[in-house]
Amino acid sequence: MYLATAYGRFGTPMAAYVDDMGGPMTKYEISYLVQWLQSQVETEPYTHDYGLISGDIELGKVVYAEHCASCHGRAGEGGTGTALGNPAMLSLTTDKFIRHAIEYGRDSTEMVAFGEILSAKEIDGVTAFLRSRSTGWTLEKPVLRPLPEAGDYVLNPNSPKAKFDLKDNLYVMAADLLKALQDMKRIVVLDTRSLSRWQIYNIEGSIPIPYYADFGDIGDFLKDMPDDGTMIVTYCECPRSAARRVNEMIREHGFENTAVLWEGIGGWVSLGYPVFRGESDGKVEIAELD
Ligand code: HEC
Repeated sequence: MYLATAYGRFGTPMAAYVDDMGGPMTKYEISYLVQWLQSQVETEPYTHDYGLISGDIELGKVVYAEHCASCHGRAGEGGTGTALGNPAMLSLTTDKFIRHAIEYGRDSTEMVAFGEILSAKEIDGVTAFLRSRSTGWTLEKPVLRPLPEAGDYVLNPNSPKAKFDLKDNLYVMAADLLKALQDMKRIVVLDTRSLSRWQIYNIEGSIPIPYYADFGDIGDFLKDMPDDGTMIVTYCECPRSAARRVNEMIREHGFENTAVLWEGIGGWVSLGYPVFRGESDGKVEIAELD
């Protein structure tokens, strides 16, 4: 709920409310608002559980066409029900959140509890099907990016280096990063969220370096980084604290041209900028990256 309020839903009238995105509220005000809303109903406190739900996507597709398309639209465009084919909504929610909405429905709305209608396997399938659309409904097949290897860390290695005017000598704006990527500038982009978040959606070419990696791991990893002043950008979802932590470690290792994405990936998605799905068995630890 925090993310939906803070970053809105790109392509819908639900605007972003957080000040970083030009909205009228600070992140603290949004947190208090969400706490207040939650206190108005009797509900289990919401915990962020990023566990992925694995299900049969093909089965989910059939279930969707039969039970969901009438309200949510054949291509997720919405109707009586919300537009489920919205990359911002799919990216900013967890699998468990989606599955919960399907299983228990929403009281006093037309969204009934499908836990009484569908089997657990069918619910897992339709959850997995929706998740497979998190970077766009029209993709025949989600664009998967395998885990990058050392030789892939630097994007556009033969091009001129990306250069940014940094805010507070630290932050790069999403629009500037997008432009550098579109202009094929030489750059390194690090995704500092957990690997499971990277798998769901990430900025193309980013390398997953989770913020909880320890200093030694980061040191090992940095041996494969160019030391010629190539810009290294970190991003997270928080929108900045995890990315800042990794950025500090990198700077302590002597890399000076580094930056943190100001809006975070939530802001990136809500601006409508492209994201891709990553691919891994979910077991890869940072130490195995190099
Ligand atoms: C009769 C119409 C109807 C059908 C059929 C229906 N839904 Fe819904 N669904 C809704 C409505 C209306 C909402 C918004 C409820 C609210 O206001 O919170 C919703 C909400 C949701 C949400 C939460 C989205 C969000 O942004 O919070 C998910 C996920 C969802 N539906 C999935 C499904 C799936 C999967 C199916 C098929 C198994 C399905 N729905 C079938 C009407 C429907």
